[in-house]
Amino acid sequence: MPQNVIEMIMADHRDVEMIFEKLRKQPENRPALVAELAAKFVAHARAEEAEVYPELAKADPGERGEVHHGIEEHHEAEELLATLMETGPDRPEFTTVLERMVKAVEHHVEEEETDILPAMAKAISADKLVEMGRVFSRAKAGELAKPPRPKGRTKEELVEQARKKEVEGYGSMTKDELLAALAG
Ligand SMILES: [Fe+2]
Ligand SMILES: [Fe+2]
Repeated sequence: MPQNVIEMIMADHRDVEMIFEKLRKQPENRPALVAELAAKFVAHARAEEAEVYPELAKADPGERGEVHHGIEEHHEAEELLATLMETGPDRPEFTTVLERMVKAVEHHVEEEETDILPAMAKAISADKLVEMGRVFSRAKAGELAKPPRPKGRTKEELVEQARKKEVEGYGSMTKDELLAALAG
């Protein structure tokens, strides 16, 4: 079992990568895997934002920009996750959205593991990192007990987003067509 918060975060990253692999190799399990991915990704991101990133920003103010950037990347990945949840698992666009989400998450994980986590190892004491592990894991459990997020967008919300993005012909598109146009 991972002991400190850095090991726990890295174990979660490997877990999410495994879910991505399964999503690629087991199309029949996509609905359950997407639900698992959404629950774990959102709980991990919220717990990092609430309990981990602020501790790093406090211990090493020079990392504030990196922390802010990390939160933005969480939100980007969550938007792709919402699109993935709305895209029928049998539709051809599913793979496109999945690969975009994988790419965004891989990028974020790499930044976290090459910058944020090493900065934490340097700036925060070993005892504190173990204590943070306990807090992180409690925060994640709290998040996992909440109703599932993100929720899929309604057709009205999609039409509104397509209008703002000036998607051509949005007024006569079906929900799937809107999703595909907005994901493109
Ligand atoms: Fe992370
Ligand atoms: Fe993160």
